[in-house]
Amino acid sequence: MKRRKFIQNASLSGIGIATATIAGACVKEEKEPAVVVPNEENARSLPIVIGTWNVTRATAKAWEMLQQGKSSLDAVEQGVMIEEADEKNQTVGKGGFPDRDGIVTLDACIMNNQGDYGAVVAMENITHAVSVARKVMDETPHVLLAGNGARQFAIEKGFKAEDLLTEASKKAWEKWKKKSEYKPIINIENHDTIGMLVMDKNGDISGACTTSGAAYKMRGRVGDSAIIGSGLFVDNEIGAATATGLGEEVLKTVGSFLIVELMRQGMSPQKACEEAIHRIVKKNKKYKDFQVGYIALNKKGEIGFYSIHKGFSCTVYQNEENKNVNSDFYNKTKD
Ligand code: GLY
Repeated sequence: MKRRKFIQNASLSGIGIATATIAGACVKEEKEPAVVVPNEENARSLPIVIGTWNVTRATAKAWEMLQQGKSSLDAVEQGVMIEEADEKNQTVGKGGFPDRDGIVTLDACIMNNQGDYGAVVAMENITHAVSVARKVMDETPHVLLAGNGARQFAIEKGFKAEDLLTEASKKAWEKWKKKSEYKPIINIENHDTIGMLVMDKNGDISGACTTSGAAYKMRGRVGDSAIIGSGLFVDNEIGAATATGLGEEVLKTVGSFLIVELMRQGMSPQKACEEAIHRIVKKNKKYKDFQVGYIALNKKGEIGFYSIHKGFSCTVYQNEENKNVNSDFYNKTKD
């Protein structure tokens, strides 16, 4: 049975064996949803594209780039740009939820197989924050530009300045202002931050992470997504990891770097993602109030993903198959 079919069946049946291994994935039968725990025993064939959440259009774009012979860096940039341009995605790029003052600010970073990194934080008016981050990496002596400086740099490089606040996000902000309660929403309608990792056919890895950050954040707040080691880390000798969810918790535990270092010590990507989530829940008793999810891959082509709460998913494109799969999660209690 093909893996896709198997996973679909597993999710629909609600009965059956406790675990089964197929094509390198261990599918655990939960009541709902079926979750996929990648199995470290079987390395995957290259290339591989993985992304946080249900981002099949983005992974398809990255895959298409790889098929054209482009590098993992070009593929990951073009992949996440799909979500940045999607106004319906209110947590990334154009149409993102604004801060408390009604201003959309973006954080993004990119990292290549040489260990080079570029990032922008708290940048206004430019949809493709990831591409500005790439320009910072490729064309400046720096790695991170913030706020007006990032915006000015982007405009100098030919990026178009535009209003990123769409009518839908403005309406949501106006509704929020009536109570003005800042409360992170678990899964934020199932999509918060796109992090993507690409390993090309040569085994070279690049990653990117891009977000409009926490909805209704304080003016000037910067999350994990563009911060090296937190929202993203790539070490081409070992592997890569990227994060989604409440950035403050990822920053405090330097989650993506932690995962890569755990993989360096021999942990599988799956176990490393689980350990990074355990560090957060051990340190913060309020973990029931927020979501964090990680995805990772290693040099052998093994993948892993895990979150605090139900609802996280990972999109995996490999072996000509582009599939969104539900992640296993820590909090199995019902409250
Ligand atoms: N993970 C996105 C943020 O907290 O900004």
